[in-house]
Amino acid sequence: MTKEKCKPLTNYTYADLVWRNNRIPIAQKFDDPYYSLDNGLEEVRHVFLTSNKLPHRLKDEFKIAELGFGTGLNFLSTLWQWRLKKQKGVFFYTSFEAFPMRPEEMIKAQSEFPELSSIKNEFLSLWSELLEKGKLNGKDYSLKLILGDARHTIKNAKITADCWFLDGFSPAKNPELWEEELLKDVYRCTADKGTLSTYSAAGIVRRNLSSAGFEVERVQGFGRKRHMTKAIKK
Ligand SMILES: C[S@@+](CC[C@H](N)C(=O)[O-])C[C@H]1O[C@@H](n2cnc3c(N)ncnc32)[C@H](O)[C@@H]1O
Repeated sequence: MTKEKCKPLTNYTYADLVWRNNRIPIAQKFDDPYYSLDNGLEEVRHVFLTSNKLPHRLKDEFKIAELGFGTGLNFLSTLWQWRLKKQKGVFFYTSFEAFPMRPEEMIKAQSEFPELSSIKNEFLSLWSELLEKGKLNGKDYSLKLILGDARHTIKNAKITADCWFLDGFSPAKNPELWEEELLKDVYRCTADKGTLSTYSAAGIVRRNLSSAGFEVERVQGFGRKRHMTKAIKK
């Protein structure tokens, strides 16, 4: 292998965080929390797992992609669901992230969710490896982290996801992750009948998803949010 190929992925800026009540991480750059202040894990289950019908759809070689890896909570929750189902095989999870959290901060954020304790402990020493190599392979998952601005990195992505988790910060604070052109690339990287969901029900998000080609639906949201959005590629 050449020296170039061995080079670690060091070309990124870590997220600068402040902590609310020493529990919930907030990205200073976006002034927005990484997950619901009510119950982050329940929100993930409602918005991403249930809305995409993952408890039924997960199967060997299922492909999930995500905008915004953050604390890794969506990934860990998907793995939790996979193992709860005693699903055989491997699922593929590709996440796009411009400002990764430091491994110790990811671990601190995850400690908020004791339900995930056995799973998250498995990853304590693996987050730095993920940042260094851009991928982790376990017995039942294959995780890929694509570092950089998703609007650019997705251009080279050759993925056909069965399901997308759109998890940027709120469209008002992080508009770049909801741009029409990016969502067109998300559409290109989605399998036929593939689905997506997001906690946001903002008009701009629904309009951009529609222009990208998705069939869009506004459905019941989690907690204080009355609505959220899900969509399908037909
Ligand atoms: C709400 S957080 C994601 C939470 C995450 N899914 C979790 O499970 O903790 C939004 C994420 O989007 C990332 N982000 C913001 N702008 C981005 C961009 N242009 N490209 C890629 N990632 C971006 C942020 O750094 C942050 O990690």
